Amino acid sequence: MNYSTYFSKQARKPTGIFGRFRMSRIFEKGNAELNALVFKTVSVEDNDHALEIGSGTGTLIKDIADTISKGLIEGIDFSKPMVSIARKKNKKHINGGKVKIHLGDFDQVVFDPNSFDKIFTVNTVYFWKNPDATIAEIHRILKPGGKLVIGFHDKSEMKKMPLNKDVFKYYSTHDFQELLLNHGGLDNIEIVSKSGGQKVSYCAVCMKSEA
Ligand SMILES: C[S@@+](CC[C@H](N)C(=O)[O-])C[C@H]1O[C@@H](n2cnc3c(N)ncnc32)[C@H](O)[C@@H]1O
Repeated sequence: MNYSTYFSKQARKPTGIFGRFRMSRIFEKGNAELNALVFKTVSVEDNDHALEIGSGTGTLIKDIADTISKGLIEGIDFSKPMVSIARKKNKKHINGGKVKIHLGDFDQVVFDPNSFDKIFTVNTVYFWKNPDATIAEIHRILKPGGKLVIGFHDKSEMKKMPLNKDVFKYYSTHDFQELLLNHGGLDNIEIVSKSGGQKVSYCAVCMKSEA
């Protein structure tokens, strides 16, 4: 396996020593700008029940949990090293009942219907095997009026990176609008962006319809 394929697979699912030490640093540093935009855009409030899909090192969950006094922020990630780092980082909030980090594959774990006020995910969409099915599952578990925020970098910038295209699927902002519009039952669809850092950061945002 060449390095580009190895690195791409590690980005999708960090494993072993490389995952624990190398990928965690890359996520912390390289994804900070995008995570900051998602933090601002998702605006989790006191008493919210929120979920991060692909919570990685758990930094965004900790940053959010630090700002609320009540509520529950859950994370799910299928990488053992990432879950271990995220649990350690959020130990205080886990012990206080504000955070839960699950080890599992979002495609297989079944959350209760209509249970989350906010769902967010950062730099994971590239790995979705069936984007329509993932959006349908997110729609099922969001409360009516609940908010979805998907943080990503767009196709034109991702294409410049030496990544394996069998592992990473790229999206343009237009692809995202189509994906969310085609599902139905999602309102206020918009793309938020922020320049700065090495790449432009994007969030695809929408709400689950009330009716
Ligand atoms: C590129 S990393 C991004 C991590 C973090 N969100 C960030 O922005 O720094 C992708 C993360 O999503 C996790 N992941 C990918 N697909 C997943 C799935 N189907 N279920 C759970 N976790 C998944 C990986 O294990 C990895 O930690």
